[in-house]
Amino acid sequence: MPLWYGGDYNPEQWPEEVWAEDVALMRRAGVNLVTVGVFSWSRLEPSEGRYTFGWLDRVLGLLADGGIRVGLAVPTASPPPWFSLAHPDALTVTRDGVRLTHGSRDTYCVSAPAYREASLRITRALGERYRDHPALAMWHVHNEYGTPCHCDHAAAAFRAWLRERYGGLDALNDAWTTAFWSQHYSDWAQITPPRATQYLPNPAQALDFRRFVSDEMLAHFREQRDLLRELTPEVPVTTNYVLAGWASVDHWKWSTEVDLVAIDDYPSGPGMAAAEQTAFAADLARSWAGGRPWLLMEQATGYVLGPRKGPKEPGEIARHSMQHVARGSTGVMFFQWRASRGGAEQWHPGMVPHTGPDSRVFREVSALGEALERIPAPYDGPLVEAEAAILWDEEAWWAAQGPGLPSSEIDYLAAVQQAHRVLWRQGVPTCFAHPSHDLPTYRAVLVPSLYLISDEAARNLAAYVEGGGTLVVSFFSGITDEHTRIRLGGYPGALREILGITVEEFRPLGEPVELPEFGRATLWSEVVHLDGAEAVARYPGGGPAVTCHRLGDGTAWYVSTRLDDPGYAQVLTRAGLAGSGVPGVEVVRRRDLVFAVNHTEDERPVPVQGTDLITGKPVGGRLGPGGYVVVRP
Ligand code: GLA
Repeated sequence: MPLWYGGDYNPEQWPEEVWAEDVALMRRAGVNLVTVGVFSWSRLEPSEGRYTFGWLDRVLGLLADGGIRVGLAVPTASPPPWFSLAHPDALTVTRDGVRLTHGSRDTYCVSAPAYREASLRITRALGERYRDHPALAMWHVHNEYGTPCHCDHAAAAFRAWLRERYGGLDALNDAWTTAFWSQHYSDWAQITPPRATQYLPNPAQALDFRRFVSDEMLAHFREQRDLLRELTPEVPVTTNYVLAGWASVDHWKWSTEVDLVAIDDYPSGPGMAAAEQTAFAADLARSWAGGRPWLLMEQATGYVLGPRKGPKEPGEIARHSMQHVARGSTGVMFFQWRASRGGAEQWHPGMVPHTGPDSRVFREVSALGEALERIPAPYDGPLVEAEAAILWDEEAWWAAQGPGLPSSEIDYLAAVQQAHRVLWRQGVPTCFAHPSHDLPTYRAVLVPSLYLISDEAARNLAAYVEGGGTLVVSFFSGITDEHTRIRLGGYPGALREILGITVEEFRPLGEPVELPEFGRATLWSEVVHLDGAEAVARYPGGGPAVTCHRLGDGTAWYVSTRLDDPGYAQVLTRAGLAGSGVPGVEVVRRRDLVFAVNHTEDERPVPVQGTDLITGKPVGGRLGPGGYVVVRP
């Protein structure tokens, strides 16, 4: 099977004359899959129950004739104006109690009965009409699930979710520590979503609401998925995860429910930072997919985040794409095919830019399409052997975003990204794992700032170390249980015995301090007592800063402050996890293929021999500036 190549195609934004040119250009660029209809609800159902499928019939017909398959979207991410007018109670309410109005997208309450019914109705209509269409390759439900709502529908659903979780109010009152500030609940009706409060809200309530929102959106996804599975049992159903700073859902949980893990990836770039972020996103996706194939559903031909947007540098589109394919993506997809001329995202780049096909971007897009045709799609099995795992847990992230923490500058995502970046630069193949996953195969497990850890996860980590593993834990880990209650007797309660230390106090840092061998430490420091561990580095005042503890057959390291990248890399080296990567050159082995990408502007050595599948030329141990090769050694 070939790799998928294409992007979101929004033909409803263009006059029909453009469609034939679109298909011709898609063929020229090697496009074989497009996502159609993500935001087309108002054009498909212009009033309740009245469908206008004619245009979509024609689009799908043209695509099918051109040999292009379709990921057909269920357009529930953007209900039409008539729906919002008829059901104002289904519009999103923010935590401040503001009911949003129509005029953007994703303005719905996922718990509103009218929205749930309307979603199923349009899904059924699409499913019944296109179930046998030759272009249909997959179903793409919704888009980037992630809108929380705080309205009364959400409140009712939240209460039902809480009843299920806790059984009774006693358990809830205990878990939420409602004895504090007179919050004891004596009736379920008293419980609301965490709406705007006078002062700090209850952290356990806030955390449970994040869990609820993820589950509630998952219930919405499942409803569409089950209906589509009934109509088209052979067609995979997916949805695209939003990444970057939006931890909107519990991706481990969701990934057991989708037929294909799909992500959207928008590095903030440019240059090496973008390459690092791309590798990070792709390793996450592969890990969520259980090491098996997944799909890059969206990326862009330019940079779309931050204050300054602009095109990717020459060659970056292909290099980022290869990073994804190397890590098991079954294709390369973009948002979107043609850059829009109007609408909220009119400045978002496309595969066909505003300039048209006679452009650098379209030439690069076409060259990439040609290259991808020469790379086989990944096997349906474990793809990349990782030597190191980084623990990743959205629940812990949500907890670390809670109110009133000892430092407002603790940044879980940044901590995880640093761990990944340092391993990536050293050329260590890395994956992500949930704290409760089976870990024994990894040479090392990194635990960056994992504030919340369950008892089960703590036992898992202890077993990993005792069995011979190397654990590297960073500050602000293991502090609370799953209800964000602090584990008493000294921090980090869940990990004290594993690490052989007790932390008596946290001392957030104003000014940086220097640690011998490990360099600059910022943000955070701790008063650490040794209970079996040895101090590997000490603060200027003499207290342990980095420690190492032998436990069973393994070793557990603790870093009680935030180190810069070189300092963190030095900890990993001391922990025996130094890689042998060539700086700026990424080498990834995907089963029987080796991908090498040179992210620098110089020629670099590559430890790869063989014939490049893309050019058919031998790879002589060197890679030109910005080049990439795919080799079957
Ligand atoms: C997301 C969405 C797209 C588009 C892009 C813009 O990935 O799914 O609809 O808004 O972001 O970057």
